[in-house]
Amino acid sequence: RLGMVVAIDGPAGSGKSSASRGVAERLRLRYLDTGAMYRAMTWWMLQHDVDLGDAEEIASHAWEPKIRVGTDPTGPTITLDGEDVSGPIRSREVTNAVSAVSAVPLIRQVLVEQQQDVIDDGAIVVEGRDIGTVVAPHAEVKIFLTADPVERARRRTSEGLAGEAVSADANQAEMARRDLFDSTKGAFAQALDAVVVDTTELSLDEVIDQICRLTVSRA
Ligand code: C5P
Repeated sequence: RLGMVVAIDGPAGSGKSSASRGVAERLRLRYLDTGAMYRAMTWWMLQHDVDLGDAEEIASHAWEPKIRVGTDPTGPTITLDGEDVSGPIRSREVTNAVSAVSAVPLIRQVLVEQQQDVIDDGAIVVEGRDIGTVVAPHAEVKIFLTADPVERARRRTSEGLAGEAVSADANQAEMARRDLFDSTKGAFAQALDAVVVDTTELSLDEVIDQICRLTVSRA
């Protein structure tokens, strides 16, 4: 492999995306958002009327969507069958459906392989749920971000899409449901050798500082 891998795992609202992009920008590394790939896969299934209650049907389409991810931390792009899907993959429709798709083993196999191909090209910050455990178990730096559930829901609410008025309570319930599903049926696991960073009381800059310092010390 050509360079260092920084694996950043954690639940929704832990500040993963902002922190990962910030670290990549500051250290001039590439950036991979694996959640965006599961979201793109889910968007394809919704567009093609796949029954998301039927794991076998989901699996039967695993090879069809052509997902391409950019690795520029200042503006990661994601295309599905050649079309930019950065907008639709953040919709509530996709957020509510993604756990069912990401729980299907063949879907994970296809996307993990693709993620490992991107990682093999060199130094990169990778964010997700299973990066330190499955996708890049040899990562030089493994971070597990956590935050208090109430704070996580608050962050999700303030970053909510325009026109989607959703209360913090509803967000907290949705996130709890997704976390439970992800951790029981999906990939959610904390690597034993990960450094746990609780972001509840930290500013984004402080989180980025901590991860950068750790990364530089391991370089
Ligand atoms: O991080 P984000 O909220 O965009 O992830 C969306 C969903 O994708 C998660 O709820 C989870 O079901 C799935 N996911 C996963 N493995 C990853 C990243 C995301 O299963 N490495």
